[in-house]
Amino acid sequence: MAQFLRDPIVVYGAANQLSEVLVEIHPDPETLALASATLIVEEARRSVKARRCFTLALAGGSTPKRVYQFLAQSPFVDLVPWEGVHVFWGDERCVDPADWRSNERMAREAFLDHVPIPRSHIHPMLCGGRASGLGSPVDVSSKESVRRSAVEYDSLLRTFFSREGEGLNAPGDDRVQAEPGCDLVLLGVGDDGHTASLFPGTDVLLETERWVGAVFSEARHASVDNMASRDLWRVTLTAPFINRATSVVFIASGLSKAAIIKEILQGPIDVGRFPAQLICPVHGTLRWYLDEDSASLLALGSEKE
Ligand code: 6PG
Repeated sequence: MAQFLRDPIVVYGAANQLSEVLVEIHPDPETLALASATLIVEEARRSVKARRCFTLALAGGSTPKRVYQFLAQSPFVDLVPWEGVHVFWGDERCVDPADWRSNERMAREAFLDHVPIPRSHIHPMLCGGRASGLGSPVDVSSKESVRRSAVEYDSLLRTFFSREGEGLNAPGDDRVQAEPGCDLVLLGVGDDGHTASLFPGTDVLLETERWVGAVFSEARHASVDNMASRDLWRVTLTAPFINRATSVVFIASGLSKAAIIKEILQGPIDVGRFPAQLICPVHGTLRWYLDEDSASLLALGSEKE
């Protein structure tokens, strides 16, 4: 496995309401991406060996692109048991998949088009301009149409994960009794505290049952560096489904994320303002992979007191 260029500083951030948070701080975005890809490969190998299956939900935005590129390169591409991997999305912008803003397009170009994962194991959210589901075109400006996409993806997840509970787990795997969810959910965080498309002040934050929701990301939700993602309908995994995961990994780099990461990890719990604080895996582990810039405002170790 790749070696870290410098040992990461591993600290335990403030315990959120359910679980401790493991924070790894890497020197720069490149080593952060390397560490993230290394973790994904390790968890994929472990999961496929134990259950013949590894379910991964991808983050959108720009930060994970380098992680995905690593997965398509040696040595990682040769270490992942691709035949057992299933890929889902954490959220999707409702644009045509050929649109440069599409999270599906970014992931396909960065790695899915370059690795031997069975095409049927790639599960996009299909909420863009092209036909969605059984061919009914999605009108990306219509709430009803986007909500139908969310319902379709919710149904896809429930079918997949109930089937996995019945069949794909190895005998005796105790996960069958637990509420099945993704093995690993990769998440980014916006400088307004959103993750996936769980934006501050939106109704999807109140969801307790559905696994997938539709949300309109208004201009106020867009930070300066991603104005392109404004005024868009989106489909997103909800916190209840993300929190079923065995492993949740946030990745964030750059000084622009430092203030919000300080608020999320070491500030008061206020999930309406900081939706990323909703993410507390019920049975799983929660990791924040940062670089020195994005972690620069955290009170580390003894400084926390
Ligand atoms: C999206 C993402 C979103 C993203 C954050 C961080 O579709 O935009 O899912 O939640 O992860 O906005 O984006 P960057 O990595 O570009 O900073």
